[in-house]
Amino acid sequence: MTTARTLGGYAPGRLTTHRTPGDIHGVTRALRHSGRKINLVPTMGALHEGHRALIRNARRTPGATVTVVSIFVNPLQFGAGEDLERYPRPLEADLQACQEEGAELVFLPGVEDMYPEGADTTVVPGQRGDVLEGAFRPGHFAGVLTVVAKLFHIVAPDTAFFGEKDYQQLRLVTKMAKDLDIPTAVVGVPTVREPDGLALSSRNVYLSPDERGRAVTLHRALTAGAAISAEGPDAVLAAANAVLAEEPALKVEYLALTDPDLGPSPQPGQRARLLVAARIGSTRLIDNVSVQL
Ligand code: PAF
Repeated sequence: MTTARTLGGYAPGRLTTHRTPGDIHGVTRALRHSGRKINLVPTMGALHEGHRALIRNARRTPGATVTVVSIFVNPLQFGAGEDLERYPRPLEADLQACQEEGAELVFLPGVEDMYPEGADTTVVPGQRGDVLEGAFRPGHFAGVLTVVAKLFHIVAPDTAFFGEKDYQQLRLVTKMAKDLDIPTAVVGVPTVREPDGLALSSRNVYLSPDERGRAVTLHRALTAGAAISAEGPDAVLAAANAVLAEEPALKVEYLALTDPDLGPSPQPGQRARLLVAARIGSTRLIDNVSVQL
């Protein structure tokens, strides 16, 4: 018989937090045995409307589902000199957001729970991990895939939800699940934007009011490129580059048009992805849109 006790305190509609991998694993296993499907929304906290959309998508999955949100600022995916220390950690507000959106389990491990002393095995991304973000943030995707693989094993979700804003991450996680036979379906959820088009990101809080005003140029550039898509890949890149060049405060790291799997050769008549990364002041922002060539 499954009771609240055997389900680790789980009660429908009530938010519970779980710190250790063994604890959350036991609860999700018992729930699965009682006929529930498990959804996972992996996050690093500082939850905004984009994360809320992920949780809402998870909650909309048909059937008897339970939604788990993981909150863990994963040190493995931050390079030297990146913002690991200052990454926002507003835990109370995050738990409230989980509660409001109807998540029922929060996995909240410490670094020592995820990476006990001596743990040094990591996931090596395939070749798509070396381009774009991978070229500017060496080791980043090894860190992302390692923590996501661990979360998939610990929570054993039927379905996991990732934002399209981190498009390369979404593709690499999808590929990892396929290549490593992890039986979790990976679902991408469209980017949520401010009214002026800026993609929501936990890092937007770093922007000064002046930088915030200028940051929308990224979205304007992507939109300008997408608008001219019928004229082919060169025209798309030229239009987007022209908009980026209007804003001297932006230090562009890359602007790229790829096929949907991040390959270098988008085909005329097919869907493609237009991706950009830029620094504004000390903040690094990324964004992307789908383009029909
Ligand atoms: O997208 C994020 O917030 C992180 O990269 C993820 C997927 C939670 C892994 O730490």
